[in-house]
Amino acid sequence: MTKIRPIRSYVLRQGRLTKYQSIALKDLSANLMIPFERSLINFNDFFETNDKKIILEIGFGMGDTTAEIAETLVDVNFLGVEVHSPGVGNLLNRINEKNIKNLRIIQHDAVEVLDFMIPNNSLDGIHIFFPDPWHKKKHNKRRLIQTSFIEKIQHKLKNEGYIHIATDWEDYALWILDSFKSLENFTLKSTDFFEKPSYRPNTKYENRGIRLGHRVWDILFIRQ
Ligand SMILES: C[S@@+](CC[C@H](N)C(=O)[O-])C[C@H]1O[C@@H](n2cnc3c(N)ncnc32)[C@H](O)[C@@H]1O
Repeated sequence: MTKIRPIRSYVLRQGRLTKYQSIALKDLSANLMIPFERSLINFNDFFETNDKKIILEIGFGMGDTTAEIAETLVDVNFLGVEVHSPGVGNLLNRINEKNIKNLRIIQHDAVEVLDFMIPNNSLDGIHIFFPDPWHKKKHNKRRLIQTSFIEKIQHKLKNEGYIHIATDWEDYALWILDSFKSLENFTLKSTDFFEKPSYRPNTKYENRGIRLGHRVWDILFIRQ
């Protein structure tokens, strides 16, 4: 029987690991990473200070922005999910250098992390900054944000929890708004795209888009 391959929202690039990143992956993972498992996570097992808000970030890239946000919002615990090893190694180093206590990492497909590990009604927020745009029409099906994905996350967010997505592709921004349309549980925070919230520094990918003359859209929905 042929096995149907799931459509993934990423391609695992053979990005070169620096020596510093590969040492981090070897030496820091045990303390700073949460292994992927097909069982629900108990956040209290992994964060030093429990009972804080929990925010999940999907696709943090190199993670410098993620570290910066965690350093600023000390009253929130952050769980960053990424598949790309150089980014994971880089963020491990940031966490270690800055002694960040409220940020931990899972290196795995975020869709499966949501399916297997994240309990229902457990997240205060989800950050997705500059998801891969998959801008060719034939690749649109690989976009992370789809109605089926939003249906999945709506159960993971607490009441009044939010999802904040930023993109520099207008077509994807409109696609995102459209994908939320059929879901009654989400309210757009403003009637239009809104300005970047103060807690979000520019990301690496964003700066590249800005250099190419792209506009940036921040979209925020609240779960009712
Ligand atoms: C365009 S990059 C943006 C990175 C970063 N947020 C930034 O703005 O610089 C998108 C990232 O999402 C990651 N990604 C895409 N789909 C993912 C998934 N299903 N699970 C985990 N990471 C994913 C990719 O590996 C990539 O690093």
